[in-house]
Amino acid sequence: SIPSYVKIVEVGPRDGLQNEKNTVPTAVKIELIHRLASCGLSVIEATSFVSPKWVPQLADAKDVMQGVHGLEGIRLPVLTPNLRGFDAAIAAGAREVAVFASASESFSKSNINCNIEESLVRYRAVTRAAKELSIPVRGYVSCVIGCPVEGPIPPSKVAYVAKELYDMGCFEISLGDTIGVGTPGTVVPMLLAVMAVVPTEKLAVHFHDTYGQSLSNILVSLQMGISTVDSSIAGLGGCPYAKGASGNVATEDVVYMLNGLGVKTNTDLGKLMSVGDFISKQLGRPSGSKTAVALSQV
Ligand code: HMG
Ligand code: MG
Repeated sequence: SIPSYVKIVEVGPRDGLQNEKNTVPTAVKIELIHRLASCGLSVIEATSFVSPKWVPQLADAKDVMQGVHGLEGIRLPVLTPNLRGFDAAIAAGAREVAVFASASESFSKSNINCNIEESLVRYRAVTRAAKELSIPVRGYVSCVIGCPVEGPIPPSKVAYVAKELYDMGCFEISLGDTIGVGTPGTVVPMLLAVMAVVPTEKLAVHFHDTYGQSLSNILVSLQMGISTVDSSIAGLGGCPYAKGASGNVATEDVVYMLNGLGVKTNTDLGKLMSVGDFISKQLGRPSGSKTAVALSQV
């Protein structure tokens, strides 16, 4: 059996736009978030308070937050890699944040310039500060299936990092197949290992679609009881520190599948498609959503 409702965490404005070669104007980012909000999405990851030297695409995080200030009844988490980012996020009006660890030492080093243990020390400082302000913190684990440098990552390592994040107070743990190499054959054992140490209802899945496996991976995750799915409008996305990683699974494709399964998402597929069309036109390329391409030709 699968859950009757799935919470979609839209990560396009963050995971999508962090990877664009050309910087997207701040006004377009703000417009994108407003349009996404009108589709019924309840959580939209807005931006990141990371080093502008590492991710220049999101150097306007403060201005983006200013521009979405008026949006009510919607959660707009932002990525924070350290206390400095956390303080900046709060000062800019963020009411929810996310920290991001990795199950691969090599990827941790290339993405946040420290090893896994050092990152957990930093994130404990962030979760402690957040707790004092009653700010919910989401925890990401990257490279849950494979790493661009190390290759396959053992499920036990993913479970270890997920549990550390959960124990420090993260309310939800998002499991990221950063380079999209997973199949149901590798995703199921990884999930079983994590579910042995973190309650299933606290887990989310975050698939990049590099090998076209996202929807099948999402389906097996739902069958295992997971009911929170990260996705990105028009399939935007990728990580600048994971070479060759493509976009996240497209939100439109996830909603199309869930509609077909009779699973509620409280989102409007038609509206999502027009937002995907808006951002794809802004970026000057076709949508990465097969559903959007197909339905726009009907
Ligand atoms: P570092 O160079 O080791 O840190 O970077 P540092 O403390 O030496 O600082 C370097 C410079 O950055 C200094 O400036 C700091 O002040 C500044 P300088 O003195 O040279 O002018 N700095 C900051 N500026 C703004 N905001 C901050 C901040 N912190 C330091 N918060 C650091 C370490 C973590 C900062 C850096 O490596 C970084 O920003 N990394 C972020 C990389 C990133 O955003 N990656 C993409 C997101 S993760 C992802 O996409 C995966 C995910 O989607 C899940 C999945 O798919 O698996 C979540
Ligand atoms: Mg990602």
